[in-house]
Amino acid sequence: MQELDYNGEMILEHLEQQPAFRLVGDVADEMGRECYVVGGYVRDIFLDRTSKDIDFVTVGSGIEVAEQVARRLGKHATIAVFRNFGTAQVKWHGLELEFVGARKESYTHDSRNPIVEDGTLDDDQRRRDFTINAMAACVNRDRFGDLLDPFDGIQDLRDKLIRTPLDPDITFSDDPLRMMRAVRFATQLGFEIFPETFAAIERNRERIGIISKERITDELMKIMKSAVPSRGFMLLDRCRLLEIIFPELAALKGVSQMNGRGHKDNFLHTMQVLDNVAQQSDNVWLRWAALLHDIAKPATKRYDDKLGWTFHNHNFIGEKMVPRIFKRLRLPMNEKMKYVAKLVGLHMRPIALVEEEVTDSAVRRMLFEAGDDIDDLMLLCAADITSKNREKVRRYRENYDLVRRKLVELEEKDRIRNFQPPVTGEEIMQTFDLQPCATVGKIKEAIKNAILDGKLANDHDEARNYMLAVAAEMGLIPVND
Ligand code: CTP
Repeated sequence: MQELDYNGEMILEHLEQQPAFRLVGDVADEMGRECYVVGGYVRDIFLDRTSKDIDFVTVGSGIEVAEQVARRLGKHATIAVFRNFGTAQVKWHGLELEFVGARKESYTHDSRNPIVEDGTLDDDQRRRDFTINAMAACVNRDRFGDLLDPFDGIQDLRDKLIRTPLDPDITFSDDPLRMMRAVRFATQLGFEIFPETFAAIERNRERIGIISKERITDELMKIMKSAVPSRGFMLLDRCRLLEIIFPELAALKGVSQMNGRGHKDNFLHTMQVLDNVAQQSDNVWLRWAALLHDIAKPATKRYDDKLGWTFHNHNFIGEKMVPRIFKRLRLPMNEKMKYVAKLVGLHMRPIALVEEEVTDSAVRRMLFEAGDDIDDLMLLCAADITSKNREKVRRYRENYDLVRRKLVELEEKDRIRNFQPPVTGEEIMQTFDLQPCATVGKIKEAIKNAILDGKLANDHDEARNYMLAVAAEMGLIPVND
């Protein structure tokens, strides 16, 4: 993000570029209403981030102004009115103009309370979440472009601070999701949370319990998509929200000692792997795989006198934990979840390969299991090398490069990545007049293993001959011979 000396003139300059602002202002003038652009849109003008969603606050009914604006914009505009939220949205040439009357009470998504549009602009601004989100710019003609910033949000933008306009206990009790939003904005923008605001998050953390999982996870997703996602998780940990919303992750923290031997802090390690992946890839599901790759370490931790600390099978147990975690967090239970689970299950593979001898057969098997996700698996694996021991890192990297080269070679030769059995189950059943049964599966498996072990080319005729040989050993005779 570029450093800017934020000043009010930037607002006027910006508003002049989009004719919708003048038009809305003129409509409001004709109706004798005050009207302002407000919230995130104003913040983002300063941050040089443009958005198509523009929030307007009017003093008095927002819906009435929206209806008039839609009429003025003509046939290309559509309007949707949400009476129980007291809002209306006008869509016009890709813009979404959202209108709401100024309120005395808070901007929660909670529709249980009736909407009271009896506030002034000032009332409205003070019930918003953060000073940087509480700025407004007037669109009425005589004050067009004037910035109204009663809580000095512009200074907090300069100082890179997330701070509530009111006593944070009040702001957070109005809508506890704002505690997550504070962490999310700090992560997205690279800002700090003001100490008193931060202390209030820790104090009010249990209140997050009244917020729906979906809304919490929306914020988590935004943290995950940020440039340095670890920032968000470290903050969540420090204010102790993490142990409430994501106990499995919090459980990774800490180092046990036994006979003077410790293991690395798996939370800090996970944070580093997550950031390493985030530097290389925008694929948010690959980032989730990084976040969860060691999630079963606490459950599998043992101390062995000879080996020291072990986390036996943590990859497989972790793979099994993924669906449960996704379900609880209301993340999609579809192929994205399966992809994350698969990568968690396989994340040790390339490293296991490099620790032993890198045989063609082992590499082929890994390629077969990873399929099209092999590049992501290799990326995760490289990101997982965080040892402080330089010699270890050098050895891992060398072997890793060897696995990479082998992968390329084998792929050209064998076409294993999208492996389709060259002899189908159908063909096996026809040849030996079998019904679907375990024997068919056994023959198929034998063919697959022979190919992966390099005994057989990935080719129909060779595979068919091999099938006949395997079947003969099982006492099966082809029906048409
Ligand atoms: N707002 C609030 N409390 C909330 C949610 C929103 O006070 N829990 C107010 C803030 O003034 C915010 C505005 O409503 O700027 C719009 O909210 P939203 O669209 O959710 O967020 P943005 O700030 O626009 O940021 P982003 O689009 O990144 O979510």
